[in-house]
Amino acid sequence: MPSVVLHRHGQVHQGEVKENTNLVVRAGIKQFPHPHLRYGCGMGKCLRCACRILKGAEHLPEPNWKEKARLGDDRLGQGYRLMCQIWFTHDVELEQDEAPLQPLAVPAA
Ligand code: FES
Repeated sequence: MPSVVLHRHGQVHQGEVKENTNLVVRAGIKQFPHPHLRYGCGMGKCLRCACRILKGAEHLPEPNWKEKARLGDDRLGQGYRLMCQIWFTHDVELEQDEAPLQPLAVPAA
């Protein structure tokens, strides 16, 4: 079973989850990482679930189009991913910032 370590507010929360688990779905049914994981839409739109992957990134699937569109190359390069878009199959350690990420600036038309 994958182990998940979540850093938030200077605290460390750890739990085991079933393989192929989505953390936002779990939090939505009040299972770990509830109540420690911030999330919102569950659909890759709001960025509230964004976390930086500290360990285990090599086991994650490539970012999907929603992650690419919402996070952009810079934040993907810094290790940010959207927890609502990932199903974990391996151990992972992640950190959620105090404040949610802001949407990318839309270039002027
Ligand atoms: S919960 Fe809204 S983008 Fe993940």
